[in-house]
Amino acid sequence: MAELAVIGCGYVGAVTAACFAHLGHRVQAIDLNRDRVSLLRDGQSPIHEPGLETILRQQIQSGRLRFDSSYPDRLDAEIIFIAVDTPGSAEGAADLGAVRAAVGTIASRVAPDAIIVNKSTVPVGTGELVEELVHGAGIYAARVVSNPEFLREGSAVEDFLRPDRVILGSSDEDALDSVASLYEGIDTTIVRVDMRTAETIKYASNAFLATKISFINEMAAVCESLGADVTAVAHGMGLDSRIGGQFLSAGLGWGGNCFPKDVRALAHMAAVHGTHPQLLRSVMAINADQRLRAIQKVRSALGSLNGMRLLVLGAAFKGGTDDIRQSPALEVVRLLLIEGAHVVVYDPVVREDDLIEALPGVNTCTDVVSGATGVDGIILATDWLEFRDLPLDRMRAVAHRGVFVDARNFLDPVTVRRAGFHYLCLGRPRAEGPAIDCQGFPSSPVLSGSLV
Ligand code: UGA
Repeated sequence: MAELAVIGCGYVGAVTAACFAHLGHRVQAIDLNRDRVSLLRDGQSPIHEPGLETILRQQIQSGRLRFDSSYPDRLDAEIIFIAVDTPGSAEGAADLGAVRAAVGTIASRVAPDAIIVNKSTVPVGTGELVEELVHGAGIYAARVVSNPEFLREGSAVEDFLRPDRVILGSSDEDALDSVASLYEGIDTTIVRVDMRTAETIKYASNAFLATKISFINEMAAVCESLGADVTAVAHGMGLDSRIGGQFLSAGLGWGGNCFPKDVRALAHMAAVHGTHPQLLRSVMAINADQRLRAIQKVRSALGSLNGMRLLVLGAAFKGGTDDIRQSPALEVVRLLLIEGAHVVVYDPVVREDDLIEALPGVNTCTDVVSGATGVDGIILATDWLEFRDLPLDRMRAVAHRGVFVDARNFLDPVTVRRAGFHYLCLGRPRAEGPAIDCQGFPSSPVLSGSLV
């Protein structure tokens, strides 16, 4: 059992602290946000993260996990994890203010031989900066290790306890041994590399996953012009173990607080160091276009969107989380509003206050049937599992016109069409329903998209 400290209790810090306590270590977690700390002390998660509250409560009760909103005079922990936010600028440069502040504060309080571990996603070379800061404060024996996180929001606890791999970066073998031993209770592969390589593995992993998604989104456009079905193409490709089936769902493109920031940051780092990151730039451009393709779908069915009433299903950047940062769904809402549409948004978990703060003036609803009342069209923008059971018949009965754009290719086309909707999606021309005239009645049973 080791004595650990975790600085920063956002989704990475809170999950890291709770899961290390679950593995048997004693953890002091510190965050300067008092509201967050008081929630965590009560065993409540400040984010929607399945499984986290159970572990929090168990570990607080066991006495292995505690939360504080200020730094003690002395941090006795042998290993201190830095898990603070590193927001990105529009150009891609990461703001290291919180990392500098955290390291600056702990430098004078840690044990002389403490190990400081970077969990935050930081620009390549930051580990060396942290080393300089700590050594500059006179703690010459302190060592720094990079241990990037690969936690998905919505399954972060599962990802922590059952990781595909753990990456550790340092030139100090003893420090690597100490951090590796924390993961002893977990059956996984531990990869030991130098610090810069560990930092790069994190960016390269996120960038590769984003590339996979942009690839399949480009294929969706190709499938539409060739008359193929992108979901079947992805399935057929994914069965090849060299390709793998995950992260091949075409839709609105990637969002959230990680991929957009990290792909931009990697491209920025590459460009600053004199290389031309042309693949990464295309990956970002395809992603931005994907939102426009969804809008184009709505326009193809309704014509001008000015004055149209639309229901957007989902606000979170993906199903299973309440996070709306860089959400493709919200970008779609913004584009619809710019075109003059009246938009009402439904999300099963995102708080109304957060939505209104992100999209001032937007209308929200608390159930999908009231949201669908009088609308000209419905756009499914987030892959919430519960959308698989939408009361489609009731929604169609109250909607003015029956356009349904499934921008995540998430529903069964036949079921949606059977409820009387004109079903549109991305990259599946044969799955789409007959065109409707502006009164809402089917006009001709043509397939959109032409066959070669
Ligand atoms: C991502 C990575 O998956 C984690 O490994 C990493 O630790 C984390 O970023 C991070 O850097 O902190 P997360 O942002 O929670 O995790 O979300 P993902 O599940 O990766 O999804 C990202 C975006 O891609 C979402 O908008 C999702 O809807 C979209 N997506 C995902 C697709 O459009 N298609 C897919 O097939 C998969």
